[in-house]
Formats: sequence, structure tokens, C-alpha cells
Amino acid sequence: MKLRKSLLIVCFPIFIGFAFMFWKPLRASIRKYTMTTTTDKQVIVVGSGLAGLSAASRLIALGISVHLLERSAKPGGNSIKASSGINGAPTKYQPGTDTFFYEDTWKSAGSAISTYSDERRSLISTLTNESSSAIEWLVKEGVDLSVVAQLGGHSFPRTHRGAGNMPPGASIILTLLKKLNSNPLFHLTTSAVVTKILRTESVIKGVEYNQNSKMEILNGPVIFASGGFAGDTNANGMLAKYRPDIASFPSTNEHREGSQPLLTASGAQLIDMEYIQIHPTSFVDPNDLSNPVKFLAAEMLRGEGGVLLHDGERFVNEMETRKIVTEAILLTPSNSDTPRQYDIQIVMDESAYLAAKSHVDFYIFKKLMRKSTISALHPSAFSTLKIYASSATSSAPDLLGRTSFGHWKLLPENITPETVVYIGTVTPAIHFTMGGVRINSKSQVLDNNDIPIDGLWAAGEVTGGVHGANRLGGSSLLEGAVFGRIAGREAAKFIGKMRD
Ligand SMILES: Cc1cc2nc3c(=O)[nH]c(=O)nc-3n(C[C@H](O)[C@H](O)[C@H](O)COP(=O)(O)OP(=O)(O)OC[C@H]3O[C@@H](n4cnc5c(N)ncnc54)[C@H](O)[C@@H]3O)c2cc1C
Ligand SMILES: *[C@@H]1O[C@H](CO)[C@@H](O)[C@H](O)[C@H]1NC(C)=O
Repeated sequence: MKLRKSLLIVCFPIFIGFAFMFWKPLRASIRKYTMTTTTDKQVIVVGSGLAGLSAASRLIALGISVHLLERSAKPGGNSIKASSGINGAPTKYQPGTDTFFYEDTWKSAGSAISTYSDERRSLISTLTNESSSAIEWLVKEGVDLSVVAQLGGHSFPRTHRGAGNMPPGASIILTLLKKLNSNPLFHLTTSAVVTKILRTESVIKGVEYNQNSKMEILNGPVIFASGGFAGDTNANGMLAKYRPDIASFPSTNEHREGSQPLLTASGAQLIDMEYIQIHPTSFVDPNDLSNPVKFLAAEMLRGEGGVLLHDGERFVNEMETRKIVTEAILLTPSNSDTPRQYDIQIVMDESAYLAAKSHVDFYIFKKLMRKSTISALHPSAFSTLKIYASSATSSAPDLLGRTSFGHWKLLPENITPETVVYIGTVTPAIHFTMGGVRINSKSQVLDNNDIPIDGLWAAGEVTGGVHGANRLGGSSLLEGAVFGRIAGREAAKFIGKMRD
């Protein structure tokens, strides 16, 4: 008894001491535990372009809270700049019945299909099968997508945009953001650069991010929707690493470093990194010739009837895929090395202009296009345009194989040097990166053994494999919507399992 008592007297202060020593970490771990359990119910989404907002919308519709981290001060990424539209087939807005979307995409993927063929088949059929429900969903959210155009490489009109003046990217992003922001389950943190993915041996635990030079940690499963690396023009950046041959081209993307290295550091695999899409037409601003960031000359300018000229001559079927049109332009002489630029005119008649009026008026306002006359072009343009006009307005076959002429209505006999045309100077620019992290058709990120990494999904331009060697215009907004929504659905299932 005495012994026990004295033991107690001796031990009590020791116990108190220990308690003091361990109280702080103990308290921290209790707090961490409670924080983990509450935040485990939330999904972290990285990037606020269409892929990220689609994932967030799906999660919130399923009653799960979302913390979205965005590195820029303003949300929207490259998605908000999209100007041609989003693909979908079949939809109620398309004329006729379109069953060729899968075939067109497969064909456009080109030589890339020789590797991972089964995986690509499943990604492409997911993309195309889910396209009509993606359009339906956006329309239900309140986005106008009632106008359909046919872009290069498509055998059918299937690229949707609105009838009003707002370009499709802005209209989609602003509509989704407005709805998300009004939901208490949605938390958006801007100016937050994700710098690291946190994981244990077996599962993704969250991310580390930097805001106002302060490091923060967020716990939960993660959906990466951080976009491509077409704006990563740093001297030691990703374009220089994967395609030094084209690193001197201008870009249509805002300057931003690529995010795939964050994912590979957590075990992700890369695919198709060398396939980089150069958009054949970005505007050369006559008042800012050497700016490396260019405004896109939307594909629909050609789709609605526009024609491309070098020294007054046509040189390619303007409705060909971006790859083929770009290759044809690169065969003309370059007139600048920094950045590498070419001297190509895009020319539209009055009716093509009217069909693309909201776009062209904006370009005219930006001084990237001008209303002029045929006499302002190279002298050969006069006869070139007469020949083009006769193919466009009669059944005369086009010399370069063009079969759709949009709204071009100008008749060859009405062409004089004084005929009004709309003109801009265009040059190819880096536009889209086909490659990225490998995913399966459930948007799960695959590790080096082709096994899905638990608690990690990716969607949108950050991923690779969906487009192979060449993306069809209108299909990247679509991949963001389709795989973003799938990632949201799968992350919701994952959370459900954790709750059980
Ligand atoms: C001018 C232009 C016009 C286009 N027109 C069309 C079109 O008409 N149709 C079409 O289908 N496609 C078009 N595209 C391509 C398409 O817009 C993009 O490929 C697509 O929007 C990519 O969507 P995303 O959600 O994957 O990425 P993004 O929209 O680029 O969004 C990614 C976001 O992630 C953020 N982010 C990146 N890294 C981090 C990080 N570490 N931490 C936090 N945030 C990060 C970025 O800041 C960005 O906001 C166009 C592209 C451009 C540039
Ligand atoms: C897409 O639809 C086709 C035709 O209905 C079907 O054969 C295919 O399995 C579908 N693919 C996916 C990934 O659902």
C-alpha cells in the first residue's frame, strides 16, 4: 500500500509531464482526425475549366461537397475562350441522323491508334456515346446550343454553339459557374496553385497548394482537371521538352506551366505527349506582329465559307483536318522566326460574314480583320476567288476537293475588284496538347502497371489518349464535359464506399 502510494506520488508528476509533452500532438491528431472525417466527404477538384466544372456539377447534383482550387485569379481556364463550339451526336439540333462521330474520331486519331488500341476504342466510344447526353445536360443547365456547324475533319455538322453573341466557351462556363456558386456545397478558391498530390502507399489523401505564398493542405479524393500544356512556353517548359521543333511557334493559350508532372510524381503514366495540335489559323495583329500569344481565328470562319490564300492562290481544301491545313501552310515561306509566322490571308464574302457576324465583328473591333475589297488582295486573288465562287455556288467540282462552302453566296459573275470582302492575316499557332496522363473510361488515372490509382481521377486536356494524334475541333470541350462528369460520378461512388 505504502509502496503503491509512493509510486503514485513519484509517477503522478511524470504522468503530468508526459501528458504535457503529448497533449499538443494529441490535440493536433484529434483535430486532424475530425478534420479528415469531415473533409473526407468532400472531393477536391483542381482546375475551373469545363472539365472541372462538369465534375463539380455532377458531384453537387449527387449531394457531395466540392472544394475547387484554381491557380488563376479568374476561373474558366482555356475553356472560357472556346469559340467554335462543342460536339454532340445525335442531338435534336442536328439536321438528319448522324452516326459517324465514332468513325470520324477514330480516323482523325491517325497513326496513334496502333498502340493501346483497345483502350483508345473504349475512350473514343465513351466520348462519342456520351456526347448527346452531355449536350442535353448543358442545355438543361440553361446553355443555348441550338446552332450547329460542320468543322474540318467532320463528315457531319455536329459542333454546337448558341444563337446569340456570346461565344460558346464563355456561355457554358458562366452558366455552370453561376449555378455552382449559388450552391452551398460548392467552394471555390482562386489564386491557389496546387503544388503536390498527397498520398499514402495505397490511396490519394489530398493536395498541397500555395496561396499568397502560403502553403495549405486539403484532404480528400482528387479530380485533376488542370488543362493542357500548350501555354507552357518556358525555356525549360513542357513544349521545349516534348517538341523542341515547334517550341518557337506562337500559342493561342495563355501562358501557364503544364501540370502533368504533379501527376507523374504520384505514379501516373503519360501517353501521346509528342502529339501537339497546331491550329492552322491564329490572327497576326498588324499592330502587334511579334506577340507570341495570338487570338484564335475560329475554325467556323472557314466553315461558314471562308477561304485561305497565299499570294492570292488557294493551296488546300480549307475543310480538311487542322493537321492537313497546318501542314499545307508550313509549306509556304515563313516570314518571321520569333515567333515563327506565315503570311496567309483568310477571306470571306458578305454572306459568309453574316453567318459568322458576331465573331467577325469582334475581330474587326480588335483590328484583327477588316472590311475591304478584292483589290486589296494579291492580284491573283481575283481569278482564284472567281473559280472558288463557281464551285461554291454551282455543282462545279472544287479543284482542291472542298465539298461544303458554308454560306458563301457570291456568284463568280458578280466578282469585281470592288467586291466587298472581309480579310485577316493568319498564321499557325500551338493550340492543344493531345497527350497527357493515361486514364480509363471511368476517368481513373492509371499507374505504371496500368492499375487505377485509388482516389485520383483526371478529365479534360490534362489527359491523353482520347484524341490520338489529332483532335477534332469541338471535341475538347466535349471531353471535358463527358470525362469530367464521369469523374464526378466515380468520385461520388468512392466517397459512398468510404462512408459505409
Ligand atoms: C482560343 C481557344 C479556342 C478554343 N476553341 C475551342 C472550341 O471551340 N471547341 C473545343 O472543343 N475546344 C476549343 N478549344 C480547346 C478547349 O478550350 C480546351 O482544350 C478545353 O477547354 C480544356 O478544358 P479543361 O477544363 O481541360 O482545361 P482548362 O479550361 O484549360 O482549365 C484548366 C484550369 O486548371 C487550372 N490549373 C492548371 N494547373 C493548376 C494547378 N497546378 N493548380 C490549380 N489550378 C490549375 C488552370 O489555371 C485552368 O483554369 C479552344 C482553345 C483555345 C485556347
Ligand atoms: C457505345 O455504343 C455502342 C453502340 O451502342 C456500343 O457497342 C459500345 O459498347 C458503347 N461503348 C461504351 C464505352 O459504352
